[in-house]
Amino acid sequence: MHFTTATVSALALFAVSASTGPISSNVLIVSKTAPAAPNVFRTVQAAIDAVPEHANTEQIIRVHAGIYFEQVTIAKSKPRVTLVGEGRNSSVIQFNRSSHTDGSSVSPTTVRVEADDFTAFGMTFMNTNTDAFLGEVGVRVAGPSPALYTQGVRNAVYNSWVLGWQDTLLVNRGNVLFINSFIEGAVDYIWGRGGAAFFHNCTLNTLRSGGYIIAEGTTAPVGGLNFTNLDSLLNSKNAPAGVANFYLGRPWGTAATAFFVDSFIPATINPTYWHTMTQGATPLYSDIGSKGPGANSISVNTALSVVVTKDQAAEFLSMDAWIPGASSWIQNPHRF
Ligand SMILES: *[C@@H]1O[C@H](CO)[C@@H](O)[C@H](O)[C@H]1NC(C)=O
Ligand SMILES: *[C@@H]1O[C@H](CO)[C@@H](O)[C@H](O)[C@H]1NC(C)=O
Ligand SMILES: *[C@@H]1O[C@H](CO)[C@@H](O)[C@H](O)[C@H]1NC(C)=O
Ligand SMILES: *[C@@H]1O[C@H](CO)[C@@H](O)[C@H](O)[C@H]1NC(C)=O
Repeated sequence: MHFTTATVSALALFAVSASTGPISSNVLIVSKTAPAAPNVFRTVQAAIDAVPEHANTEQIIRVHAGIYFEQVTIAKSKPRVTLVGEGRNSSVIQFNRSSHTDGSSVSPTTVRVEADDFTAFGMTFMNTNTDAFLGEVGVRVAGPSPALYTQGVRNAVYNSWVLGWQDTLLVNRGNVLFINSFIEGAVDYIWGRGGAAFFHNCTLNTLRSGGYIIAEGTTAPVGGLNFTNLDSLLNSKNAPAGVANFYLGRPWGTAATAFFVDSFIPATINPTYWHTMTQGATPLYSDIGSKGPGANSISVNTALSVVVTKDQAAEFLSMDAWIPGASSWIQNPHRF
C-alpha cells in the first residue's frame, strides 16, 4: 500500500467532520449459525425484507462472517440501511451471474442498492464470474458481471471490498462515497452514467493486462463532472504477476468524466493512460498531482484527456463540490 502526504491530510478532514448516529437497540443480525431469534436471519435479503419501509431512522444489519450466496436488492422504499460486516473476506455477499447468462448488464448484479442513505462498513461484495475465482465456481464467461450497483443519494461504503472482473462497480445514479475500500476488476470495472462517485484512500486493483479501470458514460456535460477518484491509490501489486499495460479508462459516453487526483500510478500503466471506446467522445478525463513510477508520462493521449492544474480544478475537486453536503454526513470509517 502506498500512502501520500496528501492522502493522510485529506483524511484528517473526515475525522473532524465524522458524524455517528445513535445505535438502534433492535439491530438485525445475519448469521448462518447464530441461534434462531426474531432478529436473526439466514440471508441478507431476509434481513432487508424485515426492515420497515420508509424508515426515518438508521436500520443496522450486522452481517456475521460467512459467504452469503445470494443476490440482494435494497429497494428505494428501504432507505437508511447500514450493513456492518466483519472485514475483508469475512462477511461476503457473492453471486455468479453475468450478462452472458442474463442478457443484461445490470440484472446480474450481486448487490443492487436503489435506496438513499445506504451505508456499508467492512463488507465484501463479489461477483464470482472472475478469473480470480476460477477453480471454485467454474469458468468465467464473457460480459458485464457487476458486484455492486448504487443508485440512491448519500450512499457510502467504508472499509469494504468490491470484487469482480468486468463492470464490477456500477454507479448508476445518485451519489456515493468510497472510503478505504478495495475495488478490483479487469475491464471497465468502475462505470456508470449519471451518478457521482468520490473515492478516497481506495485501492483499484487491475486484474488483466490491457484492462481498463474507468468506463464513464456521461453523454452531456450537464453538471458534468460526475465521476472521480480523488486521492485514490492505483495499485497493481496485488494483481496476478505480470499484469501490465492497463489504462486508467476509456469513454463509454461522449462526455465521460473522471479525475484521478494525487493518485499513485504504477510503472505497469500503459503510458498513454487512456484508450478509445466511443466515437466522437471528448471526455473530461484527467490525472492531477499523480505520484509513483508511472506518473508524469510524456505519452499521455491528450485527444482523450484534458490537462488541468490543481488550481484550475480546485472549484470542483473537493468532496462537497462533487457530492453536495457530503462533509455533513460522512461518517468515521472506524465507527464499527
Ligand atoms: C478468503 O477466505 C477463503 C476461506 O474462507 C480462503 O480460501 C481464501 O483464500 C480467502 N481469500 C483471500 C483473498 O483472502
Ligand atoms: C451459479 O452457481 C450455482 C450454484 O452453485 C450453479 O448451480 C450455477 O450453475 C452457477 N451459474 C453459473 C452461470 O456459473
Ligand atoms: C487507507 O485504507 C486502508 C485500507 O485499505 C487502511 O488500512 C488505512 O488505514 C487507510 N489510511 C488512512 C490514512 O486512513
Ligand atoms: C450528475 O449527477 C447528478 C446526481 O449526482 C445528476 O443529477 C446529473 O444528471 C448528472 N449529470 C450527468 C451529465 O449525468
